[in-house]
Amino acid sequence: MIMTTLKFTPVCRLILIAGFMAFLSCGKSEPDNEWLSRAVSTAQNQLKLAADNYSPGQNPRSINPAGDTRIAPPRDWTCGFFPGSLWYMYELTGDGTLKHEADRYTRGLNAVQYFTHTHDLGFMLYCSYGNGYRITGNKEYEQVLIKGASSLAGRYNPIVGCIRSWDFGDWQFPVIVDNMMNLEFLCWASKKTNDKQYMQMAISHANKTKENHFRKNYSSYHVVSYDTITGNVLQKQTHQGYSDESSWARGQAWGVYGYTMMYRETGKKEYLQQAQNIAALIMNLKNMPKDKIPYWDYDAPSIPNSPRDASAAAITASALIELSAYVDHGEKYFSYAEDILKSLSSDKYLAKAGTNNFFILKHSVGAYPNNSEIDTPINYADYYYLEALLRYKKYLKRA
Ligand code: GLY
Repeated sequence: MIMTTLKFTPVCRLILIAGFMAFLSCGKSEPDNEWLSRAVSTAQNQLKLAADNYSPGQNPRSINPAGDTRIAPPRDWTCGFFPGSLWYMYELTGDGTLKHEADRYTRGLNAVQYFTHTHDLGFMLYCSYGNGYRITGNKEYEQVLIKGASSLAGRYNPIVGCIRSWDFGDWQFPVIVDNMMNLEFLCWASKKTNDKQYMQMAISHANKTKENHFRKNYSSYHVVSYDTITGNVLQKQTHQGYSDESSWARGQAWGVYGYTMMYRETGKKEYLQQAQNIAALIMNLKNMPKDKIPYWDYDAPSIPNSPRDASAAAITASALIELSAYVDHGEKYFSYAEDILKSLSSDKYLAKAGTNNFFILKHSVGAYPNNSEIDTPINYADYYYLEALLRYKKYLKRA
């Protein structure tokens, strides 16, 4: 009876993985984590320089082809990642200057809570204010989050059963696989306000996405558009991938992260299974480079000369570390994530201090078909890299 309970709760999985890590380290000398200390100190320097050189509400996003920094103002979907990185860096180091900067840059996004034109409020607010609230318990942050979650929930359509992603384009009701990531914010709001509707929306969205975005091999379409009268699927397409039937690397990363997170939030086994199925697709990919940093699209025609996407790798690493704690034999996920993190922490991807316009990682791809942000640093690669380092350190510490 007790064993059955132990087997099936996420918390018990965490205990099991901690035990496994303890077993691994038993009898060994200290693990060689020099790469980790180097990564953390490089990132710390970069973020302090960035915080000094940019200003709140004008956050660094990526590097333009001319070499200047592309700025993310509050209306930009990526605006929350820089403050979020500052919060993670504060957690990684305990450096009070970073906490001060994180607060300053978070407050620069105050207006976002009222936005109703985008599904990206999860990225924009939960990465910035959400991390700030989790770490400090600041009530002002909490109020912003509660208002923001209600703005996001306003985009839910009960006939479709999903949150609408974009307001641009010719689609009747576009839902992109990336939108899985915004559900964490709704789950948080449901628990915080005791309003079950937020959780019901998140679950409905995750179920519909599981039903309609994924192919038989668990790769996913980028965009699925729905009919708002019947709720039926109208189109399955790409926007940022190579083709409608190709597998856009970051889309697969959002998927494995999204379903791992939804399992944590709901305990629903079907989400855990979905996360494992997507992880298997990623980890068994024939044309995955040896360093495990994927090409921007698994089916990009110029492979092996196509640009890599460090952001997809960082998101995947963070997801797999969490997933490793929820299953038996989770070490395969942990070890794959560790390989990714070591690659990202090598000279090929990790910037030298003071270079790279103060971004941490090099070599991500934003939207290749739009000729936008190709082989550049991008703020969300940095954010998920730091999140993954933090999760990696926490799991090693528990062991
Ligand atoms: N959510 C947009 C992207 O991943 O580029």
